[in-house]
Amino acid sequence: RPRVLSGIQPTAGSFHLGNYLGAVRQWVALQETHDAFYMVVDLHAITIPQDPKDLRANTRLAAAQLLAAGLDPDRCTLFVQSHVPEHAQLAWIMNCLTGFGEAGRMTQFKDKAAKQGAERASVGLFTYPILQVADILLYQAHEVPVGEDQRQHVELTRDLAERFNGRFGQTFTVPKPYILRETAKIYDLQDPSIKMSKSASTPKGLINLLDEPKATAKKVKSAVTDTDTVIRYDAEDKPGISNLLTIYSTLTGETIGELEEKYTGKMYGALKTDLAEVMIEFVTPFRERTQQYLDDPETLDSILAKGAEKARAVAAETLAQAYEKVGFLPAK
Ligand code: TYM
Repeated sequence: RPRVLSGIQPTAGSFHLGNYLGAVRQWVALQETHDAFYMVVDLHAITIPQDPKDLRANTRLAAAQLLAAGLDPDRCTLFVQSHVPEHAQLAWIMNCLTGFGEAGRMTQFKDKAAKQGAERASVGLFTYPILQVADILLYQAHEVPVGEDQRQHVELTRDLAERFNGRFGQTFTVPKPYILRETAKIYDLQDPSIKMSKSASTPKGLINLLDEPKATAKKVKSAVTDTDTVIRYDAEDKPGISNLLTIYSTLTGETIGELEEKYTGKMYGALKTDLAEVMIEFVTPFRERTQQYLDDPETLDSILAKGAEKARAVAAETLAQAYEKVGFLPAK
């Protein structure tokens, strides 16, 4: 079985709809066909200041949501990044192979650093993509299921894998991004020119999966569209309606074409009312399942402990090869 690896940050509160449609939904599907490794990236989270208590709680919350979304610990390896020390160890080697300018070109770093003020941004934020490189290479992943905003980090991973292999001999699998065109970028409901995100979206533009379902329905109903009346997919001229059609289509399995047909001659309000209902049907059981996992932290922690053990077995083997190739003296 080919291998996939991906990660998600333990953000406060809840995953948003972009995380789910852009990434987690694919993770669930890929566990059926791939040897799948998925992790909650707490090491990445601390590149931005975190309250320790919150970080711990959010890490559990993230794992609970992944299980609620359909990850099955019998079909995939689900773990917490900091439980596998090899991530930080390989990241060091990768740091030493990355050019300063090369790291400085990472657009996500530039955005986040600009937001914090360049002087206040941590060195960890700067090397964030290189830790991600280590995450992927440790598992010899063939594919990395992510949203469009992570493409550049996967490209960096390919470059560094090739660089290491070229310098020290074949060691790492060169991975490919796995990005589904339709859901690569889910947009903000209030401003369909920007992606849905915790940091940039206003509360009304952002669908948090664990919010009160009624509040979510309301956000769908007040989504920004356009002054035209035709329900048709056209990402250029009708970004708002196109985003709603994408969300609708992905959650129900109806194709965009089928939806366009179904809503021929109908008003935007009809589409929004139906999508609000679709959304309620999706988030209601998701919230319940997440709560069930949170109510039983022992089970949750034991799932993560087993995951970490499986992950470590793979990661340790790769790290040992990398150490040997680099020329570190083996400890006797
Ligand atoms: P993170 O936690 O920001 O996001 C998790 C996943 O959600 C996707 N995503 C979106 N997809 C479509 N539309 C959106 N509006 C949207 N917003 C977020 C992201 O692309 C991502 O796939 N650096 C990563 C975490 C990471 C990782 C890794 C990923 C760490 N190590 C190794 C893959 C492999 C991140 O911060 O994702």
